[in-house]
Amino acid sequence: MSMLRSFAHSVRPFLETDRLSTVADAFLHTDYQDYLSVAVVNQNNQPVGMISRHQLTDIFLKKFGRDLFGNRPVSDFMRQEPLAVDVNSSLLEASSYITAQMIFPLSEDFVITQEGRYLGMGAVLHLLSAMEKQISQNNQELNKAYTQLSSSQAQLVQSEKMAALGQMVAGVAHEINTPLGYVNNNIEMLSEFFAQLNTVLQAHQQLADTLLAPHATEIDIAESLAAIDDAKAGMALADFFTDLDNLFNDTFYGVEQISELVMGLKDFSRLDQAVTDNVSLNDCIESALLIARNTLKYKVEVLKRLEDLPYIRCTASQINQVLLNLFTNAAQAIEDKGYLLIKTWTDEQQVYVSVQDTGKGIAPQHLAKIFDPFFTTKPVGQGTGLGLSISYKIIQQHGGTIRVVSQVGKGTRFVIALPRHAVLAVAA
Ligand SMILES: Nc1ncnc2c1ncn2[C@@H]1O[C@H](COP(=O)(O)OP(=O)(O)OP(=O)(O)O)[C@@H](O)[C@H]1O
Ligand SMILES: [Mg+2]
Repeated sequence: MSMLRSFAHSVRPFLETDRLSTVADAFLHTDYQDYLSVAVVNQNNQPVGMISRHQLTDIFLKKFGRDLFGNRPVSDFMRQEPLAVDVNSSLLEASSYITAQMIFPLSEDFVITQEGRYLGMGAVLHLLSAMEKQISQNNQELNKAYTQLSSSQAQLVQSEKMAALGQMVAGVAHEINTPLGYVNNNIEMLSEFFAQLNTVLQAHQQLADTLLAPHATEIDIAESLAAIDDAKAGMALADFFTDLDNLFNDTFYGVEQISELVMGLKDFSRLDQAVTDNVSLNDCIESALLIARNTLKYKVEVLKRLEDLPYIRCTASQINQVLLNLFTNAAQAIEDKGYLLIKTWTDEQQVYVSVQDTGKGIAPQHLAKIFDPFFTTKPVGQGTGLGLSISYKIIQQHGGTIRVVSQVGKGTRFVIALPRHAVLAVAA
């Protein structure tokens, strides 16, 4: 039902032929006390004008006003364009029409019609206050929706970060597991070697004790010597120390690999940490590659052409994050096997990183959207579409640019340019 119907108070309109003084008397009646004006209708009940309290006072305050004008029909004094609103108009339509036509000082209410016929009167002030209420309610709803939207967006960004972190941790855990596995094996073998060595040592100790004993017989000594031979029997002595050496070397290598990975992780964990002056993008690339190793290793061959670069001022962990996003996207775009070519170079003003893959490429109609938040062509659960938008923001905050060229079926190339002497915006 139209909202306007609730404004249609049944106030008797005046006929255009009614005498002005009759109208004035009726208007003073309490039935009309809330109204600023009343409709004037013709015989067919169609509104033809409006007479306001303001007009009446104006006329009757004149000297002999009532005597001079009281007998004339109201149609002589009415305003001929009543503020008429169709009962089916919306609250918004009605109030914008009325506010556009309103005369100040506010002296008129509005007529509600249905198919041009008088239906009742509405008070302008009531309509405006209803409108105000609705606007403030809409505002509240908008504000509520806005708050909900920003909180769910924040949640999404957060869960994207957590997912990325989870992926990274899983990758690193996997990477650490391999060297950890053989370090573990080696230590087990070393402990067996040590047990053997221990038996031999004890046999030697036994011999020494026998030799030092005052009543030791030759038989005792022969037995001790035989025990030493027995202890050595299981060991291929020639290879024993070479094997031991290899085991130690392998173990050191494994431990070194683990500590390299842990160092790499440390670079990533300084996510919110301060800007530094001495970052080489080549180091960031190595760090990010280390973390992405698990994602890349089975299908992507990484080729690097890294030139010497000057140190620049940036938040290394954020640049690492950008590179990791690019490497991950490249790996995801390569369906079977392919290459990832990473190049760096520099000129007077900027340092550049190019990340190029031989993946499936980006369709031309998608190219303009890839940096938009939540744009993804990946199935639900695989991509949130935030990687590149976050990367874009990070590079922008560093005063740099990120560009893309791509050919479907051939591959994609991203080029990042960062100023050599960056003035950093807030590192969020
Ligand atoms: N190297 C690339 N090759 C082909 N398409 C790419 C490449 N990088 C990005 N895209 C396209 O751009 C879209 C947006 O990438 P973006 O990294 O922002 O999100 P995503 O990878 O889909 O999801 P997320 O990174 O949040 O897991 C991808 O869905 C993909 O269609
Ligand atoms: Mg991505």
